[in-house]
Amino acid sequence: MSGPPELEVRIARPEDADGIVALVVDRIGDEDGPEARLTLDDPRFGPGGWTVAVAGDRVVSTLGLFPTRTRIGSVTVPSAAIEFVATATEFEGKGLVRRQLDLAHRISSERGDLVQWMVGIPYFYRRFGYEYAVPTPDTIDITAQSPGGADDVSFRVASIDDIDHILALQDHMGSSAMIVAEHHRLMWSWLIASPVYRVVVATRDDTPVGMMRIYYDESTPLVFDVAAADPGTFRSLLGEACRGRAGATVAMRPGLEDFATNMTSRTNDGYAYYARVPNPADLLEAIRPELNLRLTGSGLEIDDGELLLSLYRASIRFEIKEGQLGPVATGGRVQAPVSAGGSGVPPDLIAHLILGPLGALELERRHADVLLGQQRDLMDALFPSQTVDVQSWVWP
Ligand SMILES: CC(C)(COP(=O)(O)OP(=O)(O)OC[C@H]1O[C@@H](n2cnc3c(N)ncnc32)[C@H](O)[C@@H]1OP(=O)(O)O)[C@@H](O)C(=O)NCCC(=O)NCCS
Repeated sequence: MSGPPELEVRIARPEDADGIVALVVDRIGDEDGPEARLTLDDPRFGPGGWTVAVAGDRVVSTLGLFPTRTRIGSVTVPSAAIEFVATATEFEGKGLVRRQLDLAHRISSERGDLVQWMVGIPYFYRRFGYEYAVPTPDTIDITAQSPGGADDVSFRVASIDDIDHILALQDHMGSSAMIVAEHHRLMWSWLIASPVYRVVVATRDDTPVGMMRIYYDESTPLVFDVAAADPGTFRSLLGEACRGRAGATVAMRPGLEDFATNMTSRTNDGYAYYARVPNPADLLEAIRPELNLRLTGSGLEIDDGELLLSLYRASIRFEIKEGQLGPVATGGRVQAPVSAGGSGVPPDLIAHLILGPLGALELERRHADVLLGQQRDLMDALFPSQTVDVQSWVWP
């Protein structure tokens, strides 16, 4: 007698595509199915960008692993964003997402990704090494009467031909933040094609000067990924977003702050983006040029010696010579880093330290096991409070 089919976790294949879409619709929502389909039908991505769990030939759990990039000051590192995580109801609690995350993290590491980003289920992903490192930005509620703005701006729905302009506008916007997680070109092509969003380009004399992505909730449109070259364009974009509606909700980002100084109806939902730094030493080594720029800019007098950063179960050291960090070295457990002349940051706050807005000093103030010791000034120079701009497929 044959028992229930074995549950296999693997990279998806073309024959899984319909099952993936059906499961996404069933467990995540009707509007998510067509978006999953766009990625599956795209020869640049396809089923090979997904993992599945299958019972026989039935897809019972899914996960999409998407490329993205994270800019940390002057250095950009390859990264991933995970979306469309779902398990068929009767297969829940069997470790299928855990197994797929293991596989996805392995694939992502093999690709050289140094950060994984995620939006989603409260608490769940903390179990897999994700930290709530970056709070969601404020939103502003505007009414159709309020925006004003330049009247020499025209609008059109974005097409695939706009992607270079979109990337340039997003780059311009991102330059206001110290840390930027940005959409990949592929992602923009799906967002433009998605029936869920309207991606709008603003032009002046036929030159793109701004853009936004609008999600039409039943009630108030949510406007995000806004990029604008000047305050007049920003306000015009908001006017366009409100067209035919009573108002809209606009997601802020660091580059918009100067344009929105007199917009007061701010709210924050208190949620956050998840980030995972699978190998802190590799990420720190990749951003060492940026860390050294920070040291140069700090004006600190730094003695030759060593920077010790204990993650308690493991440790990271840099030689310091002439005010600059040398190549990273990894070591074992350092339980009392402060008495060893170093600093301690627990591994589940490392994404907060490197990617989050708070900086080392504030983390020390908030967490009993962040201990900066005699290296406090150095750690402050390396990991200051910073502006962060995260783009995600869905709004958190
Ligand atoms: C949340 C969901 C993806 C979990 O899938 P799953 O296959 O049951 O997850 P796993 O069995 O791999 O769970 C791994 C562990 O997390 C636990 N877990 C499951 N859901 C959890 C939750 N919401 N919060 C905390 N822990 C949870 C499991 O009990 C298991 O614990 P264990 O390893 O200690 O035994 C699934 O319930 C689902 O599809 N939900 C609806 C779809 C959804 O909301 N998707 C996200 C939209 S972006």
